[in-house]
Amino acid sequence: MSKLLRAGLCATACAILIACGDAPSDTSSGVTDAALSAAADTPESWLTYSGDYKEQRHSRLTGITKENVADLGVAWTYDLSTGRGVESTPIVHDGIMYVTGAWSILHALDAKTGEELWSYDPEVSGEDAIKGCCDVVNRGVAIYDDKVYLGVFDGRLEALNAKTGALVWSKVTVDQTQPYTITMAPRVVKGKVIIGNSGGELGVRGYVSSYDAQTGDLDWRFYTVPNSEKKADGAASDEIMASLVNDTWGDTGGWVTDGGGGTAWDSIVYDEENDQLLVGVGNGSPWNAKIRDPEGKGDNLFLSSILALDADTGTYKWHFQTTPRDQWDFTATQSIILADLPLGKNGADRRVVMQAPKNGFFYVLDAATGEFLSGNNFVPMNWATGLDDNGRPIEASNARDTAGEPIPIFPGPLGAHNWHPMAYSPQEKLAYIPAQLIPQLYQDNQVEPDPDAYWNLGYNLSAGVPPVFPAGTLDAFRKGNQGWLVAWDPIKQEARWTVQHDGPWNGGILSLDTGIVLQGQREGDVSAYDAGTGDKLWSTNVKAGALSGMSTYAIDGEQYVTITTGWGSAYALSAGYGYSSVVPPQVGRVVTFKLGGTETIPDAMESAVERTPKGEAFGSQAQIMDGLGLYSESCLVCHGPLVVSSGVLPDLRWSYAAADKNEWTDIVSNGSRSGNGMVSFKDQVSPEGMEAIRAYVMSQSHLAVANNEAGE
Ligand code: HEC
Repeated sequence: MSKLLRAGLCATACAILIACGDAPSDTSSGVTDAALSAAADTPESWLTYSGDYKEQRHSRLTGITKENVADLGVAWTYDLSTGRGVESTPIVHDGIMYVTGAWSILHALDAKTGEELWSYDPEVSGEDAIKGCCDVVNRGVAIYDDKVYLGVFDGRLEALNAKTGALVWSKVTVDQTQPYTITMAPRVVKGKVIIGNSGGELGVRGYVSSYDAQTGDLDWRFYTVPNSEKKADGAASDEIMASLVNDTWGDTGGWVTDGGGGTAWDSIVYDEENDQLLVGVGNGSPWNAKIRDPEGKGDNLFLSSILALDADTGTYKWHFQTTPRDQWDFTATQSIILADLPLGKNGADRRVVMQAPKNGFFYVLDAATGEFLSGNNFVPMNWATGLDDNGRPIEASNARDTAGEPIPIFPGPLGAHNWHPMAYSPQEKLAYIPAQLIPQLYQDNQVEPDPDAYWNLGYNLSAGVPPVFPAGTLDAFRKGNQGWLVAWDPIKQEARWTVQHDGPWNGGILSLDTGIVLQGQREGDVSAYDAGTGDKLWSTNVKAGALSGMSTYAIDGEQYVTITTGWGSAYALSAGYGYSSVVPPQVGRVVTFKLGGTETIPDAMESAVERTPKGEAFGSQAQIMDGLGLYSESCLVCHGPLVVSSGVLPDLRWSYAAADKNEWTDIVSNGSRSGNGMVSFKDQVSPEGMEAIRAYVMSQSHLAVANNEAGE
């Protein structure tokens, strides 16, 4: 479905560049270093992923106020032609909006009308979808000089002419034989494009690279973890690896074969004052430290750290590790925000770094040195009891006891905060966190992991969910998952106010100078709140998941607020049971609001899926158990735990293919749908294993009927 939809932009199929209209005729020049540096002073544009170099997502536009916000209406919508995950924050410059959909497809739109100017499809192969942990998403582009910079899902970094969409240069930034992907927005700093990568779940070694913005030549690279032999790479990281990092890893274990992880897949922030890049570093690979580094006792640097690098050379300046020796997938890639807080001598301003990473603690660090200034938990947690004087977590005594019965830990791998951008209001001196609680049952692998499996986390992902469970189980899981908008006071390290949402996985935040914060929600509500009190001022429903970071801009004196909507990304794929009702198929869109807007958003499509088993249940208990294990290892991350899908990808319980051995084999073994992202699993799963998975899937469709949960 997705590949068909994605081709539907213009009638012309598959042209690399599809020009659908002319760019507005203006003579304006490109984006300069000075313009990026002063982006907060030109709020009529939205020049970087999070608004400016401090990445506060705070706009000084004053058109939308507490008094008139209730008049917001839809100015225009634009169909992104995808049913897959959309996470993009639109960039706006010179009246043109640059926005990405799924599969790294970039669209340039007239920001006033939504009319398409051009679009660019980098033609990611459907077969590469398997390399992503969390759908074929993209968070947006960077703009500099006369070019737009796009990180492509398959690891390319590309520069396009901002006016025409013509490709200027294209570089492959990763070893494409490895499961590397790119989903993040590139950042541009002093004529260099900075890009990281993703893949920590599938076994890669993380790094950050700097490319010349004009030529695309590689400038420097910094690896976040050692190579398997702890040898020099000829990279900017060599010196610190030898003097500090190598000794924090043992010499054997999963990290040697699986790359160790530490991917920098989202937040990279330029701190102009200290001329350094602040890089958020991800989790370990495999997750389970006992398997990753069995003999080592060290902290496994720089996993789950904020890393400061010299902006010109990429060499190490300082680091702060949020989760030493990560065991739970607690990435520190979440939004990094710079601000000045009165934490210096005699209340003088001090430049600080703020982050609310997955592990549930909010950190305030000195930007110049990385010194820990303060921290506190912003959600309930059981993995740690607090932070010591250096900001190191005081782990609960049983937090690593994953060898026996499944142990519930919160926050879990989806994090107390994930990719949904946090914002900061310098007026209120509050950080606004899209916070959540999704506990996880952690249990070590119960069987020897298959070395050919795509995913190897070192954990049994189906811990605690046997093939037969009583009615009400789905509901109980759902109730355990919570979500909030937390307005966090970074000076007092406490919440000033919180809004409780219906569930987790809520959208990014936009802060306005007029004392308003805006946030979308998983099931489509977009709301404006009083930034000081959390009182709701306005709300509407955009008929699709509203999770991305919003941006705001002004044209001809009118202020616009824009959001990309859509379905997919990690929660939709990996927690289908989490939805309170059956989710209709949804099309990704750009939805742009202005005061007095009167356009309407098309309704979601009717679901054509009949929620009934298409065949008999079959198989012995042992075969079904086998199927459950194999399903967890190879299928669960896309088709959902308990075989419950949120509707982005097929719910296998209701699939005709699951009831038909030949069709099943054709799809799962022969790869007949590989162009759409459903690759062949022939090398991972034996024919008997395939049949065992089918037996498990059919058992789950009949269980859903027996438990009266088929309609959910
Ligand atoms: C990387 C994500 C991913 C993984 C992992 C994955 N699938 Fe799929 N699967 C898909 C996508 C995408 C589709 C939809 C393909 C299409 O639109 O034609 C799909 C479709 C299917 C279908 C067709 C359903 C229908 O009725 O149309 C079957 C059967 C299936 N998958 C089985 C499996 C099994 C079994 C596994 C594990 C061995 C698995 N999948 C693992 C992404 C995945």
